[in-house]
Amino acid sequence: MAAQRTFSIIKPDATERNLTGAINAVIEKAGLRIIGQRRIQMTTAQAERFYGVHRERPFFRELVDFMTSGPVVVQVLSGDDAVAKYREVMGATNPADAAEGTIRKLFAKSIGENSVHGSDSAENAEIEIAQFFSEADIAG
Ligand code: CMP
Repeated sequence: MAAQRTFSIIKPDATERNLTGAINAVIEKAGLRIIGQRRIQMTTAQAERFYGVHRERPFFRELVDFMTSGPVVVQVLSGDDAVAKYREVMGATNPADAAEGTIRKLFAKSIGENSVHGSDSAENAEIEIAQFFSEADIAG
């Protein structure tokens, strides 16, 4: 099976608590490879574009404010069935519903401050990767 790619963000609640390495360890232990990684301060325009699909949701402004409140680590992950695998490793959006051993069960603070983002489809993964990476900055 050809390796699939997915897009990941380690969110400000996690970078603030110095959890990048701990989260990367969970990702790698699950068999996913980090083939691109960059720590950035997201701008409001970037966050609004990235979360455009949620524009009409009541939590949209809160989400954009949170994602621009501190540094994030954007990542490209690769592996067999990477999109589904990473969603399994992240756990449910709401940490109260997340399974034992998942990133959100281990680290997330709330449904909003939930430590990580992962793409919901292979198609969206490629769109999201292209928003933050050039192919020259991905190797794997
Ligand atoms: P993410 O996978 O990054 O995609 C959309 C995000 O919206 C989601 O993770 C949550 O962090 C956030 N979100 C979803 N529901 C709520 C909510 N009820 N209140 C605040 N944020 C939310």
